[in-house]
Order: sequence, then C-alpha cells, then structure tokens
Amino acid sequence: MNSKQGGPSVAIVGAGFGGLAAAIQLQKQGYTNFTIYEKGPDVGGTWRENIYPGATSDISIHYYSFSTDLNPDWDRTCAYQPDIFKYLQDVTRKHGFYKQIMFNTKFVSAEWNATTQKYDIVTQDMISGEQTSRTANVLISAPGPLHIPKYPDFPGFNEYKGKIVHSSKWDKDIDLRGKRVAIIGNGSSGSQITPRIAEVEGVQLTQFIRSGNWVLPNGARHINGAVKWAFRHIPLLQRAFRWSLFWFFEFVYLMIFGNNFMRGPLVKFATTILSMYAPKEYLPLLIPKFPAAMGCRRIIFEDLYLASLHKPNVSLKDGGKIAALDKDGIVMTDGEKLPFDVIIFATGFITDGFPYHLKGTNSTISEFYEKTGGPNAYLGITVTGFPNFYQVMGPNTATGYTSVVFFIETQVGYMMQLIKPVLDGKASSFEVLPEANEAYVNKVQRMFDDTVFNFCGSWYRVNGTGRNVMIFPGSAIKFWWWCRSVVWDHYKVVGPDGKQTKEFARKLSSSSGLTALTCAATVFAAVAWWTSL
Ligand SMILES: Cc1cc2nc3c(=O)[nH]c(=O)nc-3n(C[C@H](O)[C@H](O)[C@H](O)COP(=O)(O)OP(=O)(O)OC[C@H]3O[C@@H](n4cnc5c(N)ncnc54)[C@H](O)[C@@H]3O)c2cc1C
Ligand SMILES: NC(=O)c1ccc[n+]([C@@H]2O[C@H](COP(=O)([O-])OP(=O)(O)OC[C@H]3O[C@@H](n4cnc5c(N)ncnc54)[C@H](OP(=O)(O)O)[C@@H]3O)[C@@H](O)[C@H]2O)c1
Repeated sequence: MNSKQGGPSVAIVGAGFGGLAAAIQLQKQGYTNFTIYEKGPDVGGTWRENIYPGATSDISIHYYSFSTDLNPDWDRTCAYQPDIFKYLQDVTRKHGFYKQIMFNTKFVSAEWNATTQKYDIVTQDMISGEQTSRTANVLISAPGPLHIPKYPDFPGFNEYKGKIVHSSKWDKDIDLRGKRVAIIGNGSSGSQITPRIAEVEGVQLTQFIRSGNWVLPNGARHINGAVKWAFRHIPLLQRAFRWSLFWFFEFVYLMIFGNNFMRGPLVKFATTILSMYAPKEYLPLLIPKFPAAMGCRRIIFEDLYLASLHKPNVSLKDGGKIAALDKDGIVMTDGEKLPFDVIIFATGFITDGFPYHLKGTNSTISEFYEKTGGPNAYLGITVTGFPNFYQVMGPNTATGYTSVVFFIETQVGYMMQLIKPVLDGKASSFEVLPEANEAYVNKVQRMFDDTVFNFCGSWYRVNGTGRNVMIFPGSAIKFWWWCRSVVWDHYKVVGPDGKQTKEFARKLSSSSGLTALTCAATVFAAVAWWTSL
C-alpha cells in the first residue's frame, strides 16, 4: 500500500466534486500518496466559481452531495451556492485534504513514459508563472465538464464600452442599481439570474431568448430544525431519504426519457405551466419549438423565473435577432439599437474539447478525439492509448435529470478497481483495448437512437448540433450496473516488471465472477429493503 512518503503516486486534476470524490476513495482505501492540482484558490469547482445571484442546485441536495459525507444541516432542499461551497470546504477540512492540494496550480501537460510507466507532468504556478516538472503513476482527471465559459462571437464584441460579465465569472462587486442590464441566454444559469437581477432597485432588465426551454417548478423548500434534528439523530433516516431521492429521480428518468407514452402529457403539463405563470405576450419566445422532444436539452427546474417576467422592469427580446454589439450595447438585425450599461452572458460553456495537453502511447488526446469523431471514452473513464489515465465526468457521463455526484462516485468506484493493483505494486499500468473502447462508444451512440437527446441543439453535442458526447443516454442505475466491476479482459496489463501480462487479468477475471454475484445480491437486498420502507 502506498503512503505519503513513497510508493506509486496519483495526480488528481481539479478540486471540485470530482477530484474530491477521488481523494475520498483513495484515502478510504488507505492510499495517501496523491496530490490534487487546482488552478483556483480553493476547492469547490462549479460551486466556487458560479457565484451569480440566485445560484443554486436544482437537484435535491441530500442526494447532490457525497454519499460518504452526509450533511444533516442543509437549510434548503436545493441548496444555494454559498452552502454547497462551504460543504465542499468542510468535507476537505474533515478529510485533511487541504495539505494535499496545490492551489493556484494549473495542470499544464502530462505525457506517458512507457519506460518508467509514469506520466511526466508539468504544472504552473498561477501567481509566479513558474513551471515545475513532476511524475505520477496514475492520473485522475477531473477538470470539470462545465468550466470554460463560452461567449458568442458577435461582431463588434470588443467595441462594446460597457461592462461584460459571464454567469460563471461573476463580479461580486458589480453594482446594478439603476442600470440598464441585458442578459443573454435562458438556460439554467440565465433563468436563475433573471429573477434576482429583476429585484435590484431601479434596474431595467432585458433578457434575450434565442430558443425556448421547458421550465418546471423545483419545489425547493426551507428545512426546519426538527427535520435537521431527525436527520442528525435518527439512525439511517438521512440515508433512507437519500435512497428515496435516488429512486425518485430514476422515476423521473422513466417518465421523461425512458418511454414515449408520457411525452405528450408531459409537454401539455409543461405548456400549461408556461401559460399559467408567464406573461402571454412572451409565450411565443418561451415555448420550445421542439415540443415532442422534452428533455433533449436540460429542463429548467426553477420556481421564481416565470413570475419575474411579469415585473414592469423586465422585458424579453428575441436573442436570435442579435446582429452585433456596438460601443453602447446590442444591435438587432432590424437595425434597432439597444443601449446597455451591463451585458450578462449566460451563454454556457465550451464542452467539447480537452483542457490540457495530454499525450499517451501514440498521440495526444485531441488527436485521438479528432481521429475517432469527437470526445469518447470507455465508460466515459478510460481511453485507448492512455494507460493509467482516468476521467471523472468524462465523455457521455453527464446527466440531465439526476445528481451528477452519483455518476461521479460511480466512476470513482470503477477506476479504484484499476488503480488499486498499481498502487499495491501488483501491476504498473492498465490500458483499455481499442476494440473494447470502440464497441462501448458505438453501443452508447446507438442508444441515442431511442432517446430524445439528439432532437435539438444543446451543449450535450459537438458544436451544439453534432455527435452527442456529453450525456449518458441511459438511467443512472444502468450506468452503475455497467461500472460495478471491471471486465479485466478489456484491459492490456503491464506487470510490475514492465512486461505485458495476461496472468494478472486472468486471476482477476476469475474473482470478478464472485464480485458480480456479491453486487447482484447487494442490489437485491437494497431494493427489497427500500421497498419495505
Ligand atoms: C451553475 C451550475 C449549477 C449546477 N447545478 C447542478 C445540480 O444542481 N445538480 C447536478 O447534478 N449538477 C449540477 N451542475 C453540474 C456540475 O458542474 C457538476 O454537478 C459538478 O459540480 C462537477 O464537478 P467536477 O468536479 O467534475 O467539476 P468542477 O466542479 O467544474 O471542478 C473542476 C475543477 O478543476 C479545476 N481545473 C480545471 N482545469 C484545471 C487545470 N488544467 N489545472 C488545475 N485545475 C483545473 C477547476 O478550477 C475546478 O475547480 C451544475 C453546474 C453549474 C455550472
Ligand atoms: N442546477 C442548476 O440549477 C444549474 C444552474 C446553472 C447551470 N447548470 C448546468 O449548467 C448547464 C449549462 O447551463 P447554462 O445556462 O450556463 O448554459 P446553456 O444551458 O448552454 O445555455 C446557454 C444559453 O445561452 C444562449 N445563447 C448561447 N449563444 C447565444 C447566442 N449567440 N445568441 C443568443 N443566445 C445564445 C442559449 O440559447 P440556445 O438555447 O438557443 O442555444 C441558451 O439559452 C446546464 O445545462 C446545467 O447542466 C445547472
């Protein structure tokens, strides 16, 4: 077993939910020789960065949090950003990870060295600019799927003299009182920001909507002291509640994505919600043009947004008719000029690239993606040609309906099975075989044929409308089932002596039958227990 002093080492990129989940599992299994490289000044990732007014989870927080670190003290069923950020800081402190994270340190590059069976790594101090070379046996990559802000390339973008803010790069000192404010975008971010800005004294807010989205209530509620007390003191209560949330969201999957029968009634229901709560004159902008394909892009679960559109200081404009920016504001295709003091870009994230230089046995990961039609990975985790490289929230592992943290923990559970033998000195590397990688990717892409996910443009797809490389097209339970145990035959193994070996894989294959049986028994017992509650 490795220790802080020596033995095989692990480099983790990113200290959001993903990087921290990996660290928790390593620590839990007794491995301490890991370092997290985080380019920001603290942990939290998404929840450190997205400090815009109204930022909140829209998935129940008792489920959108670590299964290893339940928190009985959440104030709200969908927590606000400061509370989630604090939770991630508390978890980091509790596990003693602050000393194992190199903050303000950008992970610049990693190249696989077949001779040493390690990655040669370069990191950069974000403050001094100094670069440092390091090595690690295992690389866990968790740089976040929604991290790099996307700005539209409007002509005249650089001529605009007012203030520009991106939802994920919010300026906490910005004073919007009495200002003319534009907000571009009505995805989850735009819909959470709009009602908050609408409340600012004297503000005149115009939101630009290019295409409508389904907006459903999230029903978030304040949690009172008695419930918190019960979660803290009654054994297994919070765990049982979490389980019920898991099944609730699986039911949501079944209703929205898993069958064709409910689509019609659901669209009717969602149209009724829009018609009941939003101003009539805006319905043509708000109602999606892809009614049969509800769920093809992220459904917005928001309680305040539609009501806020009734405010006299709020108006909507067609975002598809923005022609350019000029020095004063936005110019529409019909020549109308709309002056603004501030333009907020709630225009999403770049999701189809890879954020640092990574070279494997033959090529860089960008070259691999280019050759194979876009980002792809076996189970969204391992990639042919990149030994000992594991992704958290890699290709096709995002989810539009349930907790990302469940997917993250599932992936970490899977990769730990492959990382353990390396850290124990029983193998030096694992690399997924090309045929397994390709077969998996084809299987996932075929699954999209039976789903709504490719029916409209979204950040799930390459350049918005190409191959779907972000979403997992099945249920969470299916993903968990696929990840429950490693099919060792799908991996090329290099032994501790640096030679390729089938022996190790064969030994593990024979024990994985037993593991599968144990897992199946556990699931059966869990389901029986859950249904008896
Ligand atoms: C506003 C918002 C709200 C969301 N709400 C929900 C929700 O309610 N439910 C849900 O399931 N999902 C939600 N999501 C999705 C969310 O992104 C994931 O749930 C989760 O936080 C992703 O965690 P992560 O660790 O993979 O990535 P991140 O949280 O993005 O963390 C990645 C970290 O890696 C660091 N990093 C990146 N590149 C480098 C580098 N080269 N070197 C060093 N460090 C690097 C970043 O600084 C960052 O700290 C939301 C996303 C957004 C943007
Ligand atoms: N849990 C939460 O509550 C929460 C909150 C925020 C974010 N998130 C997560 O983060 C993801 C991203 O959300 P997001 O809202 O930041 O981004 P997004 O869903 O990608 O939405 C971007 C918005 O900007 C618009 N837009 C982009 N380019 C434009 C252009 N050139 N002209 C006019 N409009 C343009 C898009 O219009 P089109 O639709 O026409 O492209 C869309 O309305 C979500 O899907 C969700 O997974 C979750």
